Amino acid sequence: MKKMEIKTKNRNYPVIIGNSVLDLIYDLINQPGMYENLFIVVDENVFSLHEKYITNIFNETNKKIHFYKLKPGEHSKSFDGLETILSEMIEKKYGRDTLLISIGGGVTGDLSGFAASVYMRGIQVAHIPTTLLAAVDSAIGGKTGINFNNYKNILGTFYQPQFVIIDTKFISTLPKEEINSGVGELIKYAFLTNEIFYNYIYKNFDKIYSLEESVLNKIIYKSVLFKGSVISKDEFEGGLRKILNLGHTFAHAYESQTNYSLKHGEAVVMGIISALFLSYKKGLLSERRLKKFLKLPLRMKLSPEFVIRNYQSILKYMYGDKKNREGEIRFILLSGIGNLATDVKVNESDIHYAIEETVEVLS
Ligand SMILES: NC(=O)c1ccc[n+]([C@@H]2O[C@H](COP(=O)([O-])OP(=O)(O)OC[C@H]3O[C@@H](n4cnc5c(N)ncnc54)[C@H](O)[C@@H]3O)[C@@H](O)[C@H]2O)c1
Repeated sequence: MKKMEIKTKNRNYPVIIGNSVLDLIYDLINQPGMYENLFIVVDENVFSLHEKYITNIFNETNKKIHFYKLKPGEHSKSFDGLETILSEMIEKKYGRDTLLISIGGGVTGDLSGFAASVYMRGIQVAHIPTTLLAAVDSAIGGKTGINFNNYKNILGTFYQPQFVIIDTKFISTLPKEEINSGVGELIKYAFLTNEIFYNYIYKNFDKIYSLEESVLNKIIYKSVLFKGSVISKDEFEGGLRKILNLGHTFAHAYESQTNYSLKHGEAVVMGIISALFLSYKKGLLSERRLKKFLKLPLRMKLSPEFVIRNYQSILKYMYGDKKNREGEIRFILLSGIGNLATDVKVNESDIHYAIEETVEVLS
C-alpha cells in the first residue's frame, strides 16, 4: 500500500493506492471535519460486480447512507445525469453536511464532482476510481464536468476531493477495452514525465494489459505523483497544468465527432499521434524522433473502424475547445519527452496535415 498527499492552495488530500484497501475508508470518513451523511454515487456495472465488497465496508458505519446507481457510459455525463443525482439528493433529504463518494470510472467521478460542487453551493466529495483511466488520471486534480451540446467537458468546475482511494481490486474486473482506454492516458504520462518512465511503460507494455500487480501499482503511483506535482503548482490551469492536455484538442474533437462511440483513452492516443505529427510539422521534432515517438502509441490497439476523415466537423469541434484564445485553436506540442510547448498557434492546413497523417499511420 502506498500513500501520498496532493497539495493544493485550497486543500491537501491523501491518495491511497493498493490492492483491497477500501476498508481504509473507515478511518478517512471518521476524521474530524468530514461531513456526516454519505451519498454514494456508484457505477451500475461496478455495483453489480462488487456489491458485497462495497456494501460490507459501508455497513460498518452507522452514518446515513444512500447508494445511487449511475447508468454507465459517457452519455450520463450530461445535464440529465446531473439532474437525476441532484433530484435524488433532494428527495432523500441530504443537506449541506453531505460527503458524496463516487465509485466508478471517469464518468462517475467527473459527474459526481460537478454535482458536489454545485449542490447547496458545495458539499464534500471523495473519489474511489475503478477504471485504470480514472486511477492514473481523472480521479486526481479536481476537474469536474459534463458534456453539453456535444461539446466535451464544456461545463464544469475545479473542485478538489477530500481523499482518493485507488483500490486495484476493482481494476481486476475491467474489460480489456477499458484497460486499453486507460493505457491511452498512461501513454500521455509517458510523454510528459521522463525517459525512465517512458521506457518502463514501453518495456512492461504487455504486463500492464495482464494487470501484473507490481507494474500496475508502479504506473498508477508514478502517474498520480506526476499529476499531483503539476496540480500543486498550477491548480486552475493558468500555465503548467495545460501540459496535461497533450493530445486532447484532437481527442475531444474525435470523441465529439463520433458521438462518444470512441473510448476516451483511445481518442487521447489518437490525439497524441496527431500532436506528434503537428510537432514535427512545426519543426519541434526531427523525422527520426517522430518515428521513435510514434512507436509507443502505435503499440496500442486502436479501433480499426474509427473514421476521422470528416475534417470540417473535427475543425468545428476544435474551435469550441476550452483551451482556445481569441477564437484561435491552441495546441500542446512536444519537442522531447518531458519537453512541452503550450498555447501553440497553428494554421488549418497544419491541422489538416496532422489528421491526414494520423489516419494514414493507423490504417
Ligand atoms: N477529470 C479529469 O481530470 C479527467 C481526466 C481524464 C479523463 N476524464 C474523463 O473520464 C471519462 C472516461 O473515464 P473512464 O474511461 O473511466 O470511463 P467510464 O467511467 O465510462 O468507465 C468505462 C466503463 O467501465 C465500466 N467499469 C468501471 N469500473 C469497472 C470495473 N472495476 N469493472 C468492470 N467494469 C467497470 C463502466 O461501467 C463503463 O462501462 C471521460 O468522460 C473523460 O472526459 C476526466
